[in-house]
Amino acid sequence: MLYLGADHGGYELKKSIIAYLEEKGVEYVDCGTNSPDSVDYALIAKKTCDEIVKSDENMGILCCGTGIGISMAANKVNGIRAACCSDYFSAKYTRLHNNANVLCMGGRVVGPGLAVELVDVFLNTGFEGGRHQRRIDQLTDIENSQK
Ligand code: RB5
Repeated sequence: MLYLGADHGGYELKKSIIAYLEEKGVEYVDCGTNSPDSVDYALIAKKTCDEIVKSDENMGILCCGTGIGISMAANKVNGIRAACCSDYFSAKYTRLHNNANVLCMGGRVVGPGLAVELVDVFLNTGFEGGRHQRRIDQLTDIENSQK
């Protein structure tokens, strides 16, 4: 399943992404926020990422004003590999090389047209594996060493 979350800075961008997903028939779960009222991005990231880590098949899209705060918060959750992207190459290669499971974007950084292109390539690109798996395993080792 695909989980979406945004603070007030990413709320409008999340709405555009939802319109795109619905047009494409992509299933999703919206973890909020659902109004332009101020809400803290760390709380939204935690709520969304707690769902994502329940299955390796899950993915997420998170938006805040810059995409940075919400990606920092997401990466605090064990099992999350969140990438803040504002260009096509990064959104593609963070899937190929980093096996990213969460795409983060800034509602004050990327427009809705670019955002849906980033969503599209992120959701439709697979992990390359091979030497990159060893590096992902090293990320997991770091997580485990913090427990
Ligand atoms: C909220 O004003 C803003 O700080 C937040 O959306 C985000 O950009 C933080 O990184």
